[in-house]
Order: sequence, then C-alpha cells, then structure tokens
Amino acid sequence: MAFDIDRFTRDSTRVGWDDLDLEAFRGDPLPPESLRTLRYMCDVEYHTVCYLRDMLVTPSRRDHEVDAFMTMWNREEFWHGEALAYVLSLHGVSVDYDELKAKRVKLGWRDKMKPVTQSVLSTVVGKDYIAVHMIWGAVNEWSAAAAYKRMGALEGHPSLEVLLKRIAAQEARHVAFYATQARARLEGNPKAQRLARLALSNAWQPVGSGIATDEEVTHVMNHLFSGPEGRKEIDAIDAHVARLPGMEGLTIVGDALDARGIAA
Ligand SMILES: [Fe+2]
Ligand SMILES: [Fe+2]
Repeated sequence: MAFDIDRFTRDSTRVGWDDLDLEAFRGDPLPPESLRTLRYMCDVEYHTVCYLRDMLVTPSRRDHEVDAFMTMWNREEFWHGEALAYVLSLHGVSVDYDELKAKRVKLGWRDKMKPVTQSVLSTVVGKDYIAVHMIWGAVNEWSAAAAYKRMGALEGHPSLEVLLKRIAAQEARHVAFYATQARARLEGNPKAQRLARLALSNAWQPVGSGIATDEEVTHVMNHLFSGPEGRKEIDAIDAHVARLPGMEGLTIVGDALDARGIAA
C-alpha cells in the first residue's frame, strides 16, 4: 500500500501553536458566528476518542495497520481539540475535555450500547466492515480538511490561518491513510462495494451530526460551505468519493447540504 504506516507512527507529532501570535484575539476577537463554528469543531475533535472506543470492538481492531494508525490518529485529533480550545479560551469560552467526557459518561445506556451494536453489526458483516469503516473515515477526513481550509480563508486572520493550515495538513495525512485503505479493500470486492455504497448513501451525515444539535450542524455547514466557493469544496469531496471503486455517481456530501437547504 502507498501509505507508509511506519513513517506515520514515527513522525506523528502534536500540532503546535506556541510560536503563533494568537494572543491578539484578546483585543481583536473573532465574530460570534465564527466562535460558534470553532466550538463545534473543537467538540468534534474531542469526540474522536468515543469514535475510537466504538471502533475498537470491530474487526478493524485486529488489523495491525489500522490499529497502529488509529492510535496515533486519536492523539493527533485530541491535540486539534486542544489547539481550538486554546483559541476559544482567549475569547473567554472554556471547553474542558474532562467535562465533555463526564457529560458523555452521563449519556447513559444509549451511548454505552454503541460499542455493542457496532460489535454485533461488524461481526455480521465480517471483514468487509473494515472497507466501510475506511471509506467512511476518508469522507470525514476530506470534510475536516475542507472545513479548516474554508475557516482559515473566511477569517483571514494570519496566525489563525497558519494554525488551521497545520491542522488541515494532518487531516490530509488522515485522508491519505483512509483513502488508500478504502481503495485497496474495495477493489475487486463487489460485496464490500455494495455495503459501502449502501452505508454511505443511507447513513452518512456531515461530521458532527449526532454530537451537536441539528441547528448547530446547519449553522456550521452554512457558515463554511454556502455559496459557490464553499460548494466547490463540497463537489471536490464528492468527486474524490466517486473515484473510489464502486462509488461512481455518489454525491452524498452535496446531497446532505441540499437536504439542509444550504445555498450552493
Ligand atoms: Fe482533526
Ligand atoms: Fe482527522
């Protein structure tokens, strides 16, 4: 496979921001709608560990490369959350990781059942489950990279743009892993292709749905992806997906935005 997992695990570092002049936000803060989007992104990044928990009970856990990737990936996403939490803290918004975790513990049996449902589902599907997991991850990482790129461009704040570019560069490595894996696992495997197509077209929703309220999801999609420039990014994601084996003609990301009434 083209993605070098040993190199990734060796070179993976936490995203840094100590050298960036973010303190300037104290006197020149971001507008409220941008903070709302940043807060959403921060929650999504911190939520990665719950997603990881659900995945650890599936066949993906027994694949060495996937296992190694997810260990480092979870750490990188955690630090994305920390970086965004720091920017938010300069605006007087405090996002506490432990607090978020505690809230999730309180989510009760529905959340506790998730690993069980995942486990049962993936056992029924078998090894092809990993193909679905990989293409799902690829779509989410493409979305994350596009979101940070758009956020940086929209704000036009030099230091924030550098930070978001650093995060987006790590998201691009995540894309490379998931997309390489998805392609290899879908190629010549019509059953996996059918499953992946079915899962994506029936169940895929913008990253953060299921964590945030519908209203927040729509706000973020509107803020980042409405208008021709935003839609260009979305169409590019759909084009990437459609190039994967058996995914011709899928436009799941654009469809999700249309369903939310986000103007193209
Ligand atoms: Fe991230
Ligand atoms: Fe990522």
